[in-house]
Amino acid sequence: MPIQNPQRYTVTAALIYANGPIHIGHLAGCYLPADIYVRYLRGQGRDVAFISGTDEHGVPITIKARKEGTTPQEVVDKYYTQIRDAFGEFGISFDIYSRTSKPAHHQVSQDFFTNLYDKGIFKEEVTEQYYDQKAAQFLADRYIVGTCPNCANPNAYGDQCERCGTSLSPEELINPHSTLSGEPPIKRPTKNWYLPLDQLQPKIRAYVDSHPEWKTNVAGQCLSWLNAGLHPRAMTRDLDWGVKVPLPDTEGKVLYVWFDAPIGYITFTKELFEGRGQDWEPYWKDANTKLVHFIGKDNIVFHCIIFPAMLMEHGQFVLADNVPANEFMNLEGDKISTSRNWAVWLHEYLRDFEGQQDVLRYVLCANSPENKDSDFSWKDFQARNNNELVGNLGNFVNRAMVLTQKHFGNKVPPRNNLFDIDLDVIESIRRLPGQITASLEAYRFREALALVMELSRVGNKYLADTTPWHAIKDDESRVQTIMNLSLQIAANLAIVMEPFLPFSARKLLGMLNLPAHRWKDAGSIDMLSEGHALGVSSLLFTKIEDAVIEAQVQKLLDAKKVNQQEARANAPVEAPAAVPEGKPAVSFDDFTKMDIRVATILAAEAVPKTKKLLKLTLDTGIDRRTVVSGIAEHYQPGEIIGRQVCLLANLAPREIKGIMSQGMILMAEDADGSLAFVRPEKLITNGGTVR
Ligand code: MF3
Ligand code: ZN
Repeated sequence: MPIQNPQRYTVTAALIYANGPIHIGHLAGCYLPADIYVRYLRGQGRDVAFISGTDEHGVPITIKARKEGTTPQEVVDKYYTQIRDAFGEFGISFDIYSRTSKPAHHQVSQDFFTNLYDKGIFKEEVTEQYYDQKAAQFLADRYIVGTCPNCANPNAYGDQCERCGTSLSPEELINPHSTLSGEPPIKRPTKNWYLPLDQLQPKIRAYVDSHPEWKTNVAGQCLSWLNAGLHPRAMTRDLDWGVKVPLPDTEGKVLYVWFDAPIGYITFTKELFEGRGQDWEPYWKDANTKLVHFIGKDNIVFHCIIFPAMLMEHGQFVLADNVPANEFMNLEGDKISTSRNWAVWLHEYLRDFEGQQDVLRYVLCANSPENKDSDFSWKDFQARNNNELVGNLGNFVNRAMVLTQKHFGNKVPPRNNLFDIDLDVIESIRRLPGQITASLEAYRFREALALVMELSRVGNKYLADTTPWHAIKDDESRVQTIMNLSLQIAANLAIVMEPFLPFSARKLLGMLNLPAHRWKDAGSIDMLSEGHALGVSSLLFTKIEDAVIEAQVQKLLDAKKVNQQEARANAPVEAPAAVPEGKPAVSFDDFTKMDIRVATILAAEAVPKTKKLLKLTLDTGIDRRTVVSGIAEHYQPGEIIGRQVCLLANLAPREIKGIMSQGMILMAEDADGSLAFVRPEKLITNGGTVR
């Protein structure tokens, strides 16, 4: 059950990897909703710590460093600043934005590890792990890719499939290969420390079950993992970038990035309050603290299962009260992709739409992927700005201000006799803020924003129905009432829109000459007293012209063209749309390392308990060997005996379903996934080479 009336809030937003600039998907997925929630809480006068920063360890960082030909430290230094500044520009109001590479964080996460270690929580185990001989390195996490056993995504990482969200370990990948050398890995023994999630499962389930109020997309993922059964998970890695394992004889080992990163929330809270000379501990240890993690859907397992398990075993910390994860936002109907440059980058938006941060905040929230994936399109962006921000909110505020200026010397006129239409408006002013509050408390930010716009619509309709611009001619007293109530609506708007549109809210407060907003004033029709002098009015929003939108659309079309050209340049022939993307060039030397030979299939049988695998016996001209091949859905054992095929003969042997497979049969794959043997066009002596 959610904690009722907490004394304080600790709100975290995911620690993003400092390995690239940020785009609208990041903002929509977690930082904007987190900021809306926190601004609302602050408006309520709540005690809240809003914590975030960059995740500066892990394979995503070292891979980026390799790609850019620099060091991991340079990568994180560059992107930390960029990311922090972009969030700042968009008004994401973190109380602290720190980094996991700081020595203080290494200390806190090592202490955390040691605490669990001393209690004997970890299982210490020597296992065979994938290793890249060429790169002389173990292949953890994103250093190894292969086919997801769950959804057949061919680019699943060693720790997670980003397509279906499953958390994986490298052994589960089908056809694993190293992202360093591209080669299939060998195995080497190494020692690691495992968090026994299997044993902790009952406790974790009890925790998840105690929160039936969690969003269905979050609860659904949790239940599917729990129902599948949790497995022990290594909390250490054989890598050289990260937090060193605080145990003797562990040279070359670091903490798993998903162990240290969430502990960053704790470290940064400590940093924040120690910097203020205050006690940080209540924010993590007092049962009256409401801890809320804002994340994207790919982080759910880590925040709902693994991190809570760590915290439980440590024993001193509160667990998250809620984890309101969002789904993903697409762009113009396509998945946002950094490598394909299919994104709206925040730093570019800031350049192209100077001073219009609130417009993006508005569109991203109105279109938030709260319960399912959503789509950002520039046409929708323009329409929402022009119709909703300019046409509804901006228009209402402007009319209220301008009419008051014109007829009442820019001072709030009195409220006189009230008619039914006025009473209806008053009812809306009193009711809507409460509804907005309820939606915000339930993390329904889209709905809350729609209600804010509803209040503005009430104002517009009021003016349209009472036509003060006509009424002024013969009933000034009536117009005084209308303008008074309209201004009370504007004052209410300045409060309830603040979490969503902080820049415009500040502007509006200035126009109304009101001090900083307080949420508890919302719902009042006496925020502006009679005679109160208003400030200088200006437009809150401006229309966005077609040409501006066309330029943005063109930019995306250009990115698409570049992608297509690159794909074509990499393909030897004009490739139809459905074939996989080309691969980077390899040297002739690399090619000649492959020992491809003609061989004859002597025997074939299905591998028991599998759908896809056949066990083949081959005559390779140099020996007789066994190869396990994933062709059972395409060929019957009986029909292929005696056929000549091509074999990659020096592929490192690999155990598949208990059978040692010594090589791989070359198959051609059609766009529809059907397979065909690649074989000599006339009979060749077995062992004949292919080059
Ligand atoms: N770095 C991760 C990502 O970008 C998120 C880490 S969140 C934390 O997906 F909790 F671990 F910090
Ligand atoms: Zn998958």
